[in-house]
Amino acid sequence: MPAITPQFSKRKTRSVSKKAREAGAPASEFSAGGQADTVSMGTLPDLPEAAWAEPAQLATLEARDITAWFGDHMVLDEVSLTMAAGEVTALIGPSGCGKSTFLRILNRMHQLVPSASLAGEVLLDGTDIYDSRQRITTVRRDIGMVFQKPNPFPAMSIYDNVAAGLKLTGLKVKRSTKDHVVEECLTKAGLWKEVRTRLRQPGGALSGGQQQRLCIARSLAVRPRVLLMDEPCSALDPTSTRVIEETMSDLVREVTIVIVTHNMQQAQRVSNQCAFFLAAQGEPGHIVEHGPTDAMFGAPQDPRTADYVNGRFG
Ligand SMILES: Nc1ncnc2c1ncn2[C@@H]1O[C@H](COP(=O)(O)OP(=O)(O)O)[C@@H](O)[C@H]1O
Ligand SMILES: [Mg+2]
Repeated sequence: MPAITPQFSKRKTRSVSKKAREAGAPASEFSAGGQADTVSMGTLPDLPEAAWAEPAQLATLEARDITAWFGDHMVLDEVSLTMAAGEVTALIGPSGCGKSTFLRILNRMHQLVPSASLAGEVLLDGTDIYDSRQRITTVRRDIGMVFQKPNPFPAMSIYDNVAAGLKLTGLKVKRSTKDHVVEECLTKAGLWKEVRTRLRQPGGALSGGQQQRLCIARSLAVRPRVLLMDEPCSALDPTSTRVIEETMSDLVREVTIVIVTHNMQQAQRVSNQCAFFLAAQGEPGHIVEHGPTDAMFGAPQDPRTADYVNGRFG
């Protein structure tokens, strides 16, 4: 199978990136070498049935000095953030300040963009997900992603959409386990009661809010340790949004959640921790301030945070 990210470069040090910029050369020419990740679906081990009986182990995700580029354009500058186990961390800030890029770096999706590169480390319970020994399939299984626009497989049944989460990572699962996983994940995503009698209907027939919960169920099927959510409710009505927020507060007991949101009320309702990103005109994004959500909204340290959380810009 061909490498899916032949041009991706993870810059090993800050000095390499500086050299690249000073030389005015495209970032890719100074790459530390692509990791030639290949998706070899057939080689993963069977999912042990017992794995589903064990309680999930909560994980901390730590980003250290993340600098990111698209070509020569630096979009994040030395961003460090610890996303604590069992908590919801909200990433807030105006459009274009690098929140989605940061989120995509957290599960190695950034490297899917041909011109993309980065420096820094992302540690999942202390292990660098960019270490050359880490398989990309394992990283994406451990760190799942839910996108802004619900993206179920529309023609596929509700049941198969959830089971597809398992299939896509190459895990072979017995039918009885699959039934159990589908029910469990739909329950956790807050959708089971609404769909239990129509599991064979297509995912595309559900409402937008239901489709987003179906996508959450699909991500949960592989037992991720972290769930990344990029504005998961911005395309949904208030009622669906509320249901997803309730789902998140249940889920966070077993999966660490990082959510990008433009909705300040939502950040306050769902998150324990909050990080405020900002990019000055023509400058890369950085974190102005982060901390417990109550403090970020109640007593922000930086006047720019106060202005943003109070809706004075952005
Ligand atoms: N695929 C891409 N190619 C080139 N530039 C990109 C790409 N995606 C995002 N960017 C740029 O990176 C910066 C950060 O974007 P993004 O992470 O999407 O910000 P946010 O999610 O905070 O709105 C912006 O300047 C944006 O134009
Ligand atoms: Mg974004």
